[in-house]
Amino acid sequence: MASQDGTDTGRTGMPLFPAGFLWGTSTSAYQIEGATSEDGRGQSVWDSFCRMSGRVNNGHTGDVACDHYHLWPGDVRLMRSLGVGAYRFSLAWPRLLPRGRGRANEAGLDFYDRLIDGLLEAGIEPWATLYHWDLPQALDDLGGWTNRDCAGWFADYAVLAARRFGDRVKHWATFNEFSVFTLFGYAFGWAPPSISDRTAHLQAIHHVNLAHGDAVAVLRRSVPGASIGAIHSFQTCRPSSEEPADVEAAALFDEHWNLCFPDAQILGRYPPRIAAAIDPFVRAGDLARVCQPVDWFGMNHYAPIYGHADPQMLWGFGFGAVPDSLPRTGVGWPIDHSAFETSLALAWNRYRLPIYVTENGFGTQSRPEPDERAEIDDPARVAYLEGSVAAMRRSLDQGIGVKGYFVWSLLDNFEWGAGYGDRFGIVFVDYRTQERIPKASARWYAALIGAQPPPAPGAE
Ligand code: FCB
Repeated sequence: MASQDGTDTGRTGMPLFPAGFLWGTSTSAYQIEGATSEDGRGQSVWDSFCRMSGRVNNGHTGDVACDHYHLWPGDVRLMRSLGVGAYRFSLAWPRLLPRGRGRANEAGLDFYDRLIDGLLEAGIEPWATLYHWDLPQALDDLGGWTNRDCAGWFADYAVLAARRFGDRVKHWATFNEFSVFTLFGYAFGWAPPSISDRTAHLQAIHHVNLAHGDAVAVLRRSVPGASIGAIHSFQTCRPSSEEPADVEAAALFDEHWNLCFPDAQILGRYPPRIAAAIDPFVRAGDLARVCQPVDWFGMNHYAPIYGHADPQMLWGFGFGAVPDSLPRTGVGWPIDHSAFETSLALAWNRYRLPIYVTENGFGTQSRPEPDERAEIDDPARVAYLEGSVAAMRRSLDQGIGVKGYFVWSLLDNFEWGAGYGDRFGIVFVDYRTQERIPKASARWYAALIGAQPPPAPGAE
């Protein structure tokens, strides 16, 4: 059967993907684990940030979140019932090394041992991300990513994780969304460590790139058969008007948001507008250290971004107006699936690596009681995910090497500055009881996965 756009839809009406295409769900440690003061976990910069007045919506914190630290067996069962082949989660650096370096925390290591074993028993591939924004506070006290030594501290943490889990975890990502935590943390001041300083921002970019390169080398050495990548926020960046100042601002925004990490890591150079500014922080041999061969390109895609000139902002660019013609998600992000196709094509043509879409999803704003559970029927999320999957299918038809897709997110969770106000889960979480209730989108996702052809005999 063929759909109107020519996509093969099989008997179920669902788009069909090549055998072996990977379907998964994504989460991150601080957003779901809770137990932030339990079993020896150290504090992270997000624990501190949540305690600063006015930073996170309603003063919410990740202290309890989805209590995944205790409830993970049920969460693994949920994933199994969806039929996912892989689960992308992050390791909390301060749970493994409470002070960021030095003595490891056995109880923290044990937690991930249990989770990984549980996933493998359920037939779900663990995909571990080393860093999803929760820098140990003790390291931030030493300058965090502005301190060049932070790359070495990160590499030591990677050694610990690789030696402990590398016998069972074969899929590794170094960082999640380099550009977002560095821009928001060191340039815009919207996330920890809430700095807005050009030198600090450029140092952070370069030191994070060094940390990535060092961690790839560690993983390659320590994990036999490792498949290693990094996860980039990759959103088509457009100027919000044709004014030359906006066009130039959007070009600089694009370099900062989309290009300066993967270009350095995969092409071995910084994009032109950033190159001159960052040069004073780059020492001889650094780019060779940053640019280690990786196996795949992790792309988080949500929405196009619009840049405009804004002299109030540190680098003279900021988020500009979105065209009125574009529909919006429940959290106001523009919906434009053609931007997803553009980003996939750009990443494929520029970096020539197999692409895994490591996040894609739809946010809604929590409804006030008593209507909160009306969220469980989420046709707008289903429509958005269908649109993304169709865009990915069209990209495959164009010869673009997309190999897998992870929905953000398995669970409603702590959505950073928005606290628990924004919900991205395909499974609803009642934060008073920790009850999990699959939404219509979870049923849709299970049906999509169930409709796919089985892996070829003898395939992994
Ligand atoms: C991405 C983050 C993820 C989540 C989604 C909605 O930028 O990687 O943690 O917050 O956005």
